[in-house]
Amino acid sequence: MDARQRGLEDVVVGRSTISWVGGETGELAYRGYPIAEVVRHLGYEGTLFLLVRGRPPERDPPAGLVRDLARRRALPEAVRSVVDAIDPATPPMDALRTGLSALGAGKVTYPPTEEQGLDLVARAATVLSRFARRRQGRAPVEPDAGLGHVADLLRMIEGRPVEARRVWALECYFDIVADHGMNASTFALRVVLSTNSDLISAATAGVGALKGPLHGGAPERVLDMLDAIGTPENAEGWIRDALARKERLMGFGHRAYKVQDPRAELLREIARGVASPERFRFAQHVEEVALSELRRARPDQRLYTNVEFYAGIVLEAAGLPRELFPPMFAVARTAGWTAHALEQAANNRLIRPDVDYQGPRGSTFPPSYALRQPPPTSGPVPPGPA
Ligand code: ACO
Repeated sequence: MDARQRGLEDVVVGRSTISWVGGETGELAYRGYPIAEVVRHLGYEGTLFLLVRGRPPERDPPAGLVRDLARRRALPEAVRSVVDAIDPATPPMDALRTGLSALGAGKVTYPPTEEQGLDLVARAATVLSRFARRRQGRAPVEPDAGLGHVADLLRMIEGRPVEARRVWALECYFDIVADHGMNASTFALRVVLSTNSDLISAATAGVGALKGPLHGGAPERVLDMLDAIGTPENAEGWIRDALARKERLMGFGHRAYKVQDPRAELLREIARGVASPERFRFAQHVEEVALSELRRARPDQRLYTNVEFYAGIVLEAAGLPRELFPPMFAVARTAGWTAHALEQAANNRLIRPDVDYQGPRGSTFPPSYALRQPPPTSGPVPPGPA
């Protein structure tokens, strides 16, 4: 079995009408609308509407959905207590996973519904912002039902309304990462749902998959890399050394895209508009050096900038601390997860692949093993080994 098979590369696991990923052409479209058009015309609630309902809203923002989502952001008391009990030192992605799982608590059952999905989208933002405040030792800020989702998320983290430009940057990022075909976290979510388990369990699995640096955990590491490089003059030597050590450059390469990731292109332009000119120039210089060194070191691979490289710069410019980058991605991705959950349940079959077993067969235990017998019907539990 080769590496392509091990990673299920190019294996088609179902049909979908949610997002189109053109790996050879560098395209991404939601319900047929190219991602650049989506970002140009829709805010996050509009994108959520498009992904979940399959058509764009009549106008953006869709007032009804904005209100509906806003009213769902308030957390049930039981969930608040769970979030407030998490050790503040916990990495925020782990805290989000714990807080989200508390949203289920037996009340969310299969099949998933749009209502459950909207609760997930709305409350994921409140769970994360509440924990972010807790991490800083500050009192939680309750949701404001009069604000848009992304503006309120930033306000709940910072404790005061945030400038429109930072909200705009984060909202563009939310649109750009709201869905992406059969990526690892969406696949994880669909596998869990396919067992007729509930949406919250499935979303929790999605968060677990998204946490890894090969998927959604890269942007904070991109900034760590920029810090380690430090100055433009160091870029070439640092990157050469890293590649010589066979390290992976964070923010480059993609399973699907063998040309430029269209999201990287969009985020580069957003970063150009919101980051400080020095920060942007430095990031762009590192990107150019990295691309040229990757071409030199790995001529056999088609490695380009992926979504995560400029995501780090945009999230930083939106004023977010690095440890919130992965959970921000997850909070945005709840839109796509909801659409995929509804699509999976509408035409479900248990997802259960096979494996090429290579281990021994017919092994036997030596006589030194005692035979385990069923205990007599009553009596104490026998003692364990001394
Ligand atoms: N830097 C250096 N080498 C790389 C990179 C990279 N960023 N990406 C891939 N390669 C090399 C691998 O080392 C591998 O070399 P080998 O054949 O000698 O072992 C070869 O290219 C193929 O890599 P695979 O891991 O098989 O490719 P895959 O499609 O599985 O990986 C992935 C895609 C995981 C994104 C990879 O490119 C990577 O690790 N990138 C860095 C991490 C990153 O940016 N993650 C965010 C991805 S975007 C997202 O999920 C939202």
